Order: sequence, then structure tokens, then C-alpha cells
Amino acid sequence: MGVVEDLRPIFSPKSIAVIGASRSPMKIGYEILQNILVQGYTGKVIPINPETPTIMGLKTQPSVLAVKEDLDLAIIAVPAEFVPKVMSECARKKVKGVIVISSGFAETGERGKQLEEEILQIARRGGIRLIGPNTLGYKDPIDSLDAAFVFGMPRPGEIALISQSGALCIGMIYYANGEHIGLSRVISVGNKADIDDADLIDYLSADPATKVIAMYIEGIKDGRKFLDAARRCHKPIVAIKAGRTPAGSAAASTHTGSLSGSDAVYDSAFKQVHIQRAYDVIELFDYARALAYQPCAPGNRVGIISNGGGAGIMIADWCESIGLKVPNLTKKTVDGLRPHLPSITSPRNPLDVTGDARFHRYHATGSIVLSDPNIDALIMTCVHAGIARPKEYVGAVIKLVEEKKNLKKPIVACWVGGPEIDEVVQELRVKNIPVYSSAMRAAKAVKCLYDEGGRQDMVAGKKHKEPA
Ligand code: ACO
Repeated sequence: MGVVEDLRPIFSPKSIAVIGASRSPMKIGYEILQNILVQGYTGKVIPINPETPTIMGLKTQPSVLAVKEDLDLAIIAVPAEFVPKVMSECARKKVKGVIVISSGFAETGERGKQLEEEILQIARRGGIRLIGPNTLGYKDPIDSLDAAFVFGMPRPGEIALISQSGALCIGMIYYANGEHIGLSRVISVGNKADIDDADLIDYLSADPATKVIAMYIEGIKDGRKFLDAARRCHKPIVAIKAGRTPAGSAAASTHTGSLSGSDAVYDSAFKQVHIQRAYDVIELFDYARALAYQPCAPGNRVGIISNGGGAGIMIADWCESIGLKVPNLTKKTVDGLRPHLPSITSPRNPLDVTGDARFHRYHATGSIVLSDPNIDALIMTCVHAGIARPKEYVGAVIKLVEEKKNLKKPIVACWVGGPEIDEVVQELRVKNIPVYSSAMRAAKAVKCLYDEGGRQDMVAGKKHKEPA
């Protein structure tokens, strides 16, 4: 069986047993059962607890062996020392997949490593695929299945998130929700005893709901398997690889039992297979959002429209310092821009449309610059100055993105100001138009869209166009 068929019972289960489902609302086993029910799971769910006949109105069973129906998935939340016993019962019951939530395995030292090896061997012998141990579980906002502890669902969308950290995973969900970024599947992988990043890349590559894969990684055990999966993946991958320094690496070994390895090796491996590397959560979602909702840039030449000189200059600096170009515009473009600009403004790139510009000037100049054959991508920036019309500019960006789809050149927005612009840019976020709060973030997002062209060429077996 291929990995997609292997993992389907885990991610699209027809029946779930929660082993360690608890009567106490303070316990993790209670929360998992509650989360499954709150999201309206329509399959069969069976709480396993030998101490009580019912939990949340559902009849319990003392063990999976007492369950009559076939079980696709068992979620295990009993203390680590009892996990081998319940895993063996899962194997006898022929459960297809398990998620081991429990901590107390490889991340705790030698005894924990042995325990992890023991449950892995039980899984292998029983033909069970295993997520974890030491995991949060997963949340699936597309199919409304919350198979994790910690309350709260992501906004549904097209970015899949794989995280080796459970707590950070929750933080990332809330960050994405706040930014109006939708997620397709969120999977906490924990110690990755069996199912690892490579398996999930293969699975998500075939997932119709996912456009981009975003990852938080502490360590990878099988580098060859990971690189092969990344190379054949049909979708862009953005990844944070944490544990880059001696201090971070030591912390990773006690968090998920990971060996962080040489950062230089990871860096060059990621480059080989065109994984875009991010260094924090904000950057991870900056790139993922751009990749999910804008076309890749056909070249590295950027046009910049601003309503204030400083913002345009900073974007130009950032572009040029990270391998993008801010080229001169063609004569035709310059002539086309002149009638739209006040006489004090020179039609050049970056183009300062000046602070008194309204919808029409902002939109028309953006449209002309984007159509210039010297331009591969457009950054439209707005500084929230006194007479500026940020709402009108938002409308202009939305119109431009809709009108210019066929050009297949990305457009990103850069809005500089305080909390008062948050409400204004929300409209861009809702339309999935990437909007960034600084020149650096906007320029790096465009660079990421340019680099994505390299990945697409690799997949198509084509040589990538040399940068201008
Ligand atoms: N079969 C079924 N039920 C059982 C069994 C069994 N063999 N043994 C015990 N139970 C029941 C218990 O009776 C209890 O139910 P009750 O509360 O109604 O009596 C329930 O299962 C839970 O068992 P407890 O012994 O009370 O265990 P507790 O809930 O305290 O802890 C847990 C279990 C949550 C798995 C804990 O050991 C643990 O590992 N916590 C950390 C989890 C975690 O952080 N995971 C990783 C997060 S992601 C990351 O950061 C990398």
C-alpha cells in the first residue's frame, strides 16, 4: 500500500477509539473526546475507560478488544508506561492507525527511548501506522475533525501545517486565525517514531485541499527519505528548521528527542530541493500565504508603487539586497504613466504617486507598471499619512489583482502604519491578497515567489531562467 492509503484511516477515519477518555474535564483524555464531539464528527466514536460505564453520554468500553466494530483510529492518552499494553491490544484488534498523545518517550532519555522503540515494534508487527508519541494530535478544519487536545479550530483554508512542537502548533493556529490565513490540515508530529515529515509530505502532496505545506521542524531522522519526498512533492514547501544553535539544539533534544544536526547541512539540503526556509512563525506564514494565493514571479524584476517616497526607497533597497532587481521602465510605460501623475512627479521605478493620490491614480499607475515587459512582480505600498486614502488604495489593489490574473505576475501589498490600518487591510486579508507591514517582509515574499519558479522548473525538468 502507498502512504496515501496507509494514512487515510488516520486522517479520514470511519471510527475512532479514545483510549484514556477521562471523566475529569481537567484531563487531556476528556478534552480529546470533547473536541471530537464538538466539531460534529459523524463517524463512530468510542471512549475506552475501564473505570466508568459512560462518558459525555457515550457508552465506554474497558478496552479496544471489547469493541465490536472495526476501528480505523485509536487515540491514546494514558501514561507512557501503559502505552505498550494498549498498543498490543490495538494490534490484536487490528486497529489501522494510532496517535500516541502521551509524553515520556525518547525526549526523556534512555528508558524513554526503549519504550518508544517498544511501541514502534508493536506497531510494525501489527501493521499499525503511528503518529507520535508526544504529540498534540491533529486538527482538520476542512473535514471538521478535531483529533487533538487544546480547544480551538483553525480557519479553513489551503495551507497545511506540520509541526514538531505541539504548543507552538497551537500558537501558529491562533496567529494564522488572527491574520485571516486559512489552514487545510494541522498535524502535530511529536517524536516521529513512525510517521514522519516525508510521509506527510507525500500524503499532503496528494491532498486536493492543500496548496502549500508549511512546516516547523526540529530534527529529521532519515534525510534521504525526506529529500526524496520534497523533490517529488507537487506543492511548495516552506519550513522553519529550529535548533540552529548549540542552545537551540540542546533544547530540541529534550523537547522531542530530536538530533538537530548541522544547520549548514540542512540549509544546503533545503536549497537542493527548493524548500523555502523561514526563520520564524511570521516569516513562515508570510511565504505560505504568498505561495498559496499569488502566481510565482516569472523573473526577479520588481515594480514598486508608493504614496510616499521613503516607503518605495526602502522596498527598492530590500529588493536589491536579496537578489531582486528594481529595473527602469520602458519608454512606453513612462509615456503611459505621465498623464496620470502630477507634473512634480517623475515616472520611474519605484514610482511615488505622491500623498494626494486617490483610487484612480493608484490603480492606473499600478496597472501600467505591472504590464511593463521589464516587470515580473508588483509591490503596492501605502503609508498611512495624513491625506492618504488607504481604503481607496485597498480597493485599487483588489481591483488590480482581479483584473490582471491573466498576466500571471504576483502583486503584494505593503501597508505601513499603526493599529488604525488593521481594519482597512482586513479587506485585503479576507480576499487572500498578501499584505505585509514592512518593506522587508514584502520584498522577501516576492523573492519567495521568484524562487518558487525555480521549484516549478525543477519539477518540470526545465532549466531555471537566470536572474536579471
Ligand atoms: N485504558 C483505558 N483507559 C485507561 C487506562 C487504560 N489502560 N488506564 C487508565 N485509563 C483511564 C484513567 O482511568 C483515566 O480516566 P479517569 O480520569 O476517568 O479515571 C484516564 O484514562 C487517564 O488516565 P490517567 O492515569 O488519569 O492519566 P492522565 O490523564 O493524568 O495522563 C497523559 C495521561 C495525558 C497521556 C499524560 O501521561 C501525558 O503524557 N501528558 C502529556 C501529554 C503531552 O503533553 N503530549 C505532547 C504534546 S505535544 C508537544 O509538546 C511535543
